[in-house]
Amino acid sequence: MPKKTKTVFVCSSCGEDYPRWYGRCENCGEWDTISEFRQPKKSGSSSLRVKGSGSREAVKLSSCKPERIKRRDTGFPEIDRVLGGGLVPGSAVLVGGNPGIGKSTLMLHLASNFTRNELCVLYVTGEESLEQLSLRSKRLGIENAAVNILTETSVERVLDTMEQLKPDVIVVDSIQAVFSEELESAPGSVSQVRECAALLMRYTKQSQAALFLVGHVTKEGAIAGPRVIEHMVDTVLYFEGDSTYQYRILRAIKNRFGPSGEIALLAMSDTGLSEVPNASEFFLMHRDTPQVGTSVVPVLEGSRILVVELQALVNPTHFGLPQRVASGVNPKKLSLLIAVLERYAGISLGDHDIFFNITGGLTVSEPAIDLGIAAAILSSFRNVPIQNGIAFLGEIGLGGEIRPVNGMLPRLKELAGMGFNRCVVPVPKRGSDWKEKKSGIELIICRSVNDITDHIF
Ligand code: TYD
Ligand code: MG
Repeated sequence: MPKKTKTVFVCSSCGEDYPRWYGRCENCGEWDTISEFRQPKKSGSSSLRVKGSGSREAVKLSSCKPERIKRRDTGFPEIDRVLGGGLVPGSAVLVGGNPGIGKSTLMLHLASNFTRNELCVLYVTGEESLEQLSLRSKRLGIENAAVNILTETSVERVLDTMEQLKPDVIVVDSIQAVFSEELESAPGSVSQVRECAALLMRYTKQSQAALFLVGHVTKEGAIAGPRVIEHMVDTVLYFEGDSTYQYRILRAIKNRFGPSGEIALLAMSDTGLSEVPNASEFFLMHRDTPQVGTSVVPVLEGSRILVVELQALVNPTHFGLPQRVASGVNPKKLSLLIAVLERYAGISLGDHDIFFNITGGLTVSEPAIDLGIAAAILSSFRNVPIQNGIAFLGEIGLGGEIRPVNGMLPRLKELAGMGFNRCVVPVPKRGSDWKEKKSGIELIICRSVNDITDHIF
């Protein structure tokens, strides 16, 4: 009797499964992203139980020593850190991001770096021709690298090549371009993306080769985004940043081999991507004269501290409703802080337009920047600059109170190292010792948003 194929419905935006078709995905709220996914007869999860992979015996957890994992250098210390200390053999890494952000460029850099460490690298490209890749490698100055390039979109033929070549590292650029001949659906559909990823990962898990899958972020229903395979892979790295700016942030959203949330700051130039030296200062302007409406905040991204500049512009509204425009923070956060300032700092902003921006195009979601936002708004409203050398650190509660955030001491030390001499901070929580420890910076302790004006202007 032929084996029944299993049909599920999968959202191409977030990867959620449903037993039947819906117009809107309940999980991510996107419309028309759910499409049929037929689990083929001889693959998918069942194929992971392949004959010949050998039945494994249960072992004691204590007998397993993680230091046996020999991680491989990517040639970019920043990316090694994001991966949790280097690339783990047998792991699958998804590299996602908007088209044009630099995924292929990064993969070519890494591929060339691995060959320098005597590793056999197979770079499968389904999107670019050999000529395009060669041109790109010239730009990056790595045209002589011993990378094996395969321009192929059939996953079966990719697997054949992998069988012959036995590479240590495989890059598939992109997972949306490859397809399995066993499936009828079009390349880039949910079925294809999932199935191809499963087939490639099955091979690499057995052969202990590391696999990079490149995936374009897309909102269109017909093409499945990389999110549909996020749960299958070991590590998910996403490129953030605006392609109009020079910098790119590579963030580990998920990592089975290290902490998630780590970021690497990279810069795109006409010779490819490079690491940014002094990343913590990268977003700072280093002005000699203080500027109205500008405050400085140390932001924690993973284990990295970035000192960023916040800017607010508060102008009387001349026409219609007051405008609130926020870039780099959630607009709701801005509204909330404006409401708190009106109530507890005694200023009336109801007839003012407020524009807010984080310089460099960075997006920050942590609450540690609340105090900095409030200070920037106050400074612009009063038209008085904040004195040079002062930074802000703290979360603001709905009662106007300022609260400590995590990592106070390392953030203060970083500020001190960069030449800041004062920082406005909240009252420490009972039991925390960051206030007593030497951070090399003078602390201005404020209880509520009402207090800060006395200290900063
Ligand atoms: P690419 O790696 O092709 O992006 P993705 O694979 O994520 O779609 O990067 C493309 C962009 O990067 C393109 O706009 C050109 C730019 N770029 C540089 O600025 N410098 C370079 O050295 C290279 C190779 C690309
Ligand atoms: Mg590309």
